[in-house]
Amino acid sequence: MLGIILAAGMGTRMKSSQPKVMHELVSHPLLEWVLNSFEHLIEDKHCDKIAVVIGENMPALKTLVARWSLEKGIEVRLFYQKERLGTGHAVKMAMPAITELKDAEPVYILCGDVPLIKSETLKKMLLVYQGGDIDAAVLTVEKEDPSGYGRIVKDQNDTIKKIVEHKDATPEQLSIKEINSGMYLVKAASLRESLNLLKNDNRQCEYYLTDIVEWMDKNGGKVISVITDDHYEVSGINNRYQLSLLEKVARKRINKAHMMNGVTMIDPEQVYIDPQVSIEPDCIIEPMTIVKGKVSIGRNCIIGPMTQIEDSVIGEGNRIERSHLSGVRVKNNVKIGPFARLRENTVLEDNVKIGDFVETKKTTVGKGSKAQHLSYLGDTTIEEDVNVGAGTITCNYNGFSKSQTLIEKEAFIGSNTSLVAPVKIGKGAIVGAGSVIVRDVPEDCLSIARGKQSNKEKRASELKKKYKKERNG
Ligand code: UD1
Ligand code: CA
Repeated sequence: MLGIILAAGMGTRMKSSQPKVMHELVSHPLLEWVLNSFEHLIEDKHCDKIAVVIGENMPALKTLVARWSLEKGIEVRLFYQKERLGTGHAVKMAMPAITELKDAEPVYILCGDVPLIKSETLKKMLLVYQGGDIDAAVLTVEKEDPSGYGRIVKDQNDTIKKIVEHKDATPEQLSIKEINSGMYLVKAASLRESLNLLKNDNRQCEYYLTDIVEWMDKNGGKVISVITDDHYEVSGINNRYQLSLLEKVARKRINKAHMMNGVTMIDPEQVYIDPQVSIEPDCIIEPMTIVKGKVSIGRNCIIGPMTQIEDSVIGEGNRIERSHLSGVRVKNNVKIGPFARLRENTVLEDNVKIGDFVETKKTTVGKGSKAQHLSYLGDTTIEEDVNVGAGTITCNYNGFSKSQTLIEKEAFIGSNTSLVAPVKIGKGAIVGAGSVIVRDVPEDCLSIARGKQSNKEKRASELKKKYKKERNG
């Protein structure tokens, strides 16, 4: 079975330099949503190839399609429509792929700018197709205001005689409320024949794909409609305002699914979660929280408020508050924030505490270790039960290259210490506050590297007197 996605339009009303279908809905291009709608059909081995009809010069779109095709292990061919001569003309561009199909094989035709089409609906269309001897199933919806859409003209037996575009419709046809979504399942043989006979003798001088329906009816075929009551799944996007409306709908659906699955959201309107995020039950997601990319969150975590997590794996029982995490692995019972920034390749083992204004990068923090205030830890390995004092900085960069810091277990780093890498702090060592450590500290050592303190008795009041005299002349 073949799936065709029409995406040749530039979408002038988006007022954008990129193609319409590359605009993102919940962090994924519109086209990717439509590609993903085939996922279940691919899993069930119903759909094994996809064709995307695009305009010229769409490099970003080509990259997306190549990546998707590789990820899903399914062939996606691109066909070019140089001139936009209508939906029928667009489908015709994919004729080489249609020609390869067996006569009775069905072809899905979807639109790249209708992102919320559900895979269950595609399946339903397939069941209808398999159940009856039909040439095509058209996905339709009933609209209170059908202006602008193609009207579904049926006979008494509920079979579709033809689809009439708004601009070509008679006053009587204009009153029909069942409209064409622009999505179809068509028998390959009938599609081939009817496409080759399309003409553009209409008000818009376009090759209408919808005309295949009338041809099929006249040639003894049968076309029926599959009606959906979900308006959103057939909603196309023409401008950025419509994009924002569907964004809300899509996010609401994602959040609802998580809540039904046992996740508490204090205010779901203020929670932004991407599609590939998994969250185990009994988590609480607080307001103003954003979870992007591939993230998994284990049971009993409290995330937020005001937290952003990207591409990370979060274990169980963690508390993450007002922080930013990207490319991080957090084990269990870890406390992060408020105001921590954890960057790529940070690993936090069980029972770690990372507090306010601590930044980490390429750093592992061992079980039970703590860095609670004002630190930068980069290219660092910290073993278990280490205490990193407030203001500790790993000086990992000399302007040319990065170097490693190792802090062995049970070491104690006094506040405001600079660890000039490469450097190693041995097991159980203590580094005095305010030290600048440039050489390794052996196991069990007390290391102090700062100016020696001298106390001069009564000098304070003497100095003050002198300064006062100077000021008053
Ligand atoms: C089409 C249907 C109409 C239906 C409506 C639903 C026809 C003639 N009409 O209307 O019955 O109610 O969709 O939204 O099919 N495209 C191309 N190349 C082209 C023209 C279109 O790739 O030359 C693509 C667009 O990028 C889009 C899809 O086809 O993804 C639909 O095009 P659009 O212009 O929105 O369809 P309409 O003609 O408005
Ligand atoms: Ca349209």
